[in-house]
Amino acid sequence: MESVFIRPVSLSDAAQLILFKKEVANESKFLLTCPDEVEDIADQRRIITLYLSDPRKIFLVAEYKNQIIGVITLSGSNKRRVMHKGELGITVRKQFWAKGVGSALMEECLKLAKQKGFKKIQLEVMSNNDRAMGLYKKFGFEVEGIKKRAVFVDGEYIDLVMMGKWLED
Ligand SMILES: CC(C)(COP(=O)(O)OP(=O)(O)OC[C@H]1O[C@@H](n2cnc3c(N)ncnc32)[C@H](O)[C@@H]1OP(=O)(O)O)[C@@H](O)C(=O)NCCC(=O)NCCS
Repeated sequence: MESVFIRPVSLSDAAQLILFKKEVANESKFLLTCPDEVEDIADQRRIITLYLSDPRKIFLVAEYKNQIIGVITLSGSNKRRVMHKGELGITVRKQFWAKGVGSALMEECLKLAKQKGFKKIQLEVMSNNDRAMGLYKKFGFEVEGIKKRAVFVDGEYIDLVMMGKWLED
């Protein structure tokens, strides 16, 4: 999509990120956070500060006409035995689905992850989330396991699919 650009998050995004998170929580049942569980401004600022200050974390936003329309995060550990891998999360506003925004976020995040020396990316996705799994498979993620009945959405237990991708040198 033209005029969408991907950039690192900044502390001044905190208020807009709250709105973004509330909107996507209303638009999608595939996220773990319900609209009334979105962090307040102080917590949001703490989360952004944590991501910006930790070299094992990545937090990028997709911006369109000064609006945040997508977010991707990668969270790694500083413990040596697990610092080769990071846990990924991605969300795009519904009106922008299927326009390549998710792919653009993923491409940039994987590039930065490689630069930072990550070897493996992991994620978890609800088993009924075909769209997200389509995106992950397009980028070479493979199914590594299933956590049975791991989430409870609208009175129904849903499995979580664990997916992973090894980053080639
Ligand atoms: C999952 C999500 C991030 C994808 O973002 P997006 O901007 O729509 O992704 P893209 O337009 O780049 O599409 C990426 C790929 O997904 C696949 N895809 C798209 N729609 C699909 C569908 N309905 N079924 C299966 N695969 C689909 C295609 O392979 C597509 O690539 P292509 O267009 O080159 O063929 C977005 O739909 C979203 O935020 N959903 C709600 C929140 C969510 O589920 N987050 C993930 C939680 S694990």
